[in-house]
Amino acid sequence: MATTQQTIQAPARTLSAPAFDVKRIREDFPILKQKVHDKPLVYLDNAATSQKPQKVVDAIVRFYTEDCANIHRGVHLLSERATYVYENTRRKVQKFLNASDQREIVYVRGATEAINLVAQTYGRRNIQAGDEVLITAMEHHSNIVPWQMLCEEKGARLQVGPVNDRGELILEEFEKLLNDRTRIVAVAHVSNALGTINPVRQIVEMAHARGVPVLVDGAQAAPHMKVDVQELGCDFYTFSGHKIFGPTGIGVLFGKFELLEAMPPFQGGGDMIAYVSFEKTIYNAVPYKFEAGTPDIAGVYGLEAALKYVNHVGIANIASYEHALLSYATEALQQIPGVRIIGTAREKTGVISFVLEGIHAHDVGTILDHEGIAVRTGHHCAQPVMDRFGVPATVRASLAFYNTKQEINSLAAGIQRVKAVLG
Ligand SMILES: Cc1ncc(COP(=O)(O)O)c(C=O)c1O
Repeated sequence: MATTQQTIQAPARTLSAPAFDVKRIREDFPILKQKVHDKPLVYLDNAATSQKPQKVVDAIVRFYTEDCANIHRGVHLLSERATYVYENTRRKVQKFLNASDQREIVYVRGATEAINLVAQTYGRRNIQAGDEVLITAMEHHSNIVPWQMLCEEKGARLQVGPVNDRGELILEEFEKLLNDRTRIVAVAHVSNALGTINPVRQIVEMAHARGVPVLVDGAQAAPHMKVDVQELGCDFYTFSGHKIFGPTGIGVLFGKFELLEAMPPFQGGGDMIAYVSFEKTIYNAVPYKFEAGTPDIAGVYGLEAALKYVNHVGIANIASYEHALLSYATEALQQIPGVRIIGTAREKTGVISFVLEGIHAHDVGTILDHEGIAVRTGHHCAQPVMDRFGVPATVRASLAFYNTKQEINSLAAGIQRVKAVLG
């Protein structure tokens, strides 16, 4: 019987351990330990770029100090090691997004490049005069301008699905804009300016019912929630390494294999070819066809470490911790007279955009900076959605899983200080 008691006690200890130890997690991010303007850094600009765990920094250093070589063409050991990490990381990204085939993963510089790639290859080939591209009113400029450029070149038209006062896409209106001239739908999974999570599965169903492919800009989603491209059913999905705790300069485009196969290359050069003569070039297979030139190999090392870190913490843990922190922050800010939150969608990630009555966003940001608090102010590369809400700029506090309730308290105190100084 004594043995039985022991076996019962052991899991009880495991269960009582904290599920999410933010204090412990913060230890992994050396940058968070510093002071700015003599105050502890409160980093709330995660939607612009997130901080990197030491493991990511170490992985990049490892490439340059141990494995530095070009990939694919080398027969020597260093090149083999670098090629292994580069290709093995592709498999890890495939698993991270639950893509069905590793050839569906294309390395790019970031979400911006991925969207330009699709616009300039798939778009150029399939969109003609009189056709339409459908986006939403809450897109980042990266998911507006490449389509605008394409439409201008082709004589096509950009259609925009409207949002309601909460900052949610009005689905019925969006659906009405889908018609037999629509050639592609391009939507943010999560809005960087409002935090709204779009109902991507529904959008994909609506579009596919009319035979229209869907690109999803996941720059603000992949770091904060589980992404399963097969479940979403989307045709293209993209995210940036630097927003998911990895390095700048590396990102991912997922594309359905048949679509990638049918698309022309994006850029010409080394590695994207199988054979070159002056008469004719035969392109390399997917995904290499889209990876011209020496890629950001060090970036891939960093990306691998970042995804490993996120998997270790657990994306479900990240999502639920951030959700609780968002509720706490929303309540704290709503209690401050003069604060108006822009973007109150029912489905939201940890982005709080707000304006402070009578005080310009940039002034709020400057005073918060002197309190050690890093937020972003301005239009957040989403000017049309600012226009929709009738504001030129907002202050944006954006959360990551290493942020704490104490930091939210500092933000609230900082806003009170802004009011005391400028109000
Ligand atoms: C929703 C969204 N899409 C696209 C981008 C562009 O990402 P990147 O600058 O990494 O290419 C951003 C960056 O803020 C974003 O928030």
